[in-house]
Amino acid sequence: MESYESNPQEWLEYAQFDQFRYTRNLVDKGNGKFNLMILCWGEGHGSSIHDHTDSHCFMKILQGNLKETLFEWPGKKSSGAMTKKSERVLGENQCAYITDSIGLHRVENTSHTESAVSLHLYSPAFDSCNTFDQRTGHKHKVKMTFYSQFGERTPGATATSQENN
Ligand SMILES: [Fe+2]
Repeated sequence: MESYESNPQEWLEYAQFDQFRYTRNLVDKGNGKFNLMILCWGEGHGSSIHDHTDSHCFMKILQGNLKETLFEWPGKKSSGAMTKKSERVLGENQCAYITDSIGLHRVENTSHTESAVSLHLYSPAFDSCNTFDQRTGHKHKVKMTFYSQFGERTPGATATSQENN
């Protein structure tokens, strides 16, 4: 992920955008060992705060900029605003890594004028995660779907049925 230099000719067929929400586009299933996908973020699109289901998540920016905000896991009993640990803006060709022991994060394209594209590798693959309400810390399990797979739109998939990571 670090050594790859973004070349739109190589990933454009997978970069399928939706007007209203960021999309998850499957590129490769890695013989069942990992999922490689391309996420397309329109202007102002962002994820909710989420975990990574005990998987390793590697992310690389292919185009534009994405802001990553890290949060601590909410306490077991307490119900209150989640604690922000750090935030940073990742630019083209930069990489990030997260796993549940590091914490939770939110990823956003804060630009109002430019879209963003990112490459994500999850190992092992997973198809559900938890999202968290920033004000209360309450979690909610969500199933994730692909907007497209191997360059073809997933039949019946809408951007609104998708969730993060
Ligand atoms: Fe994530």
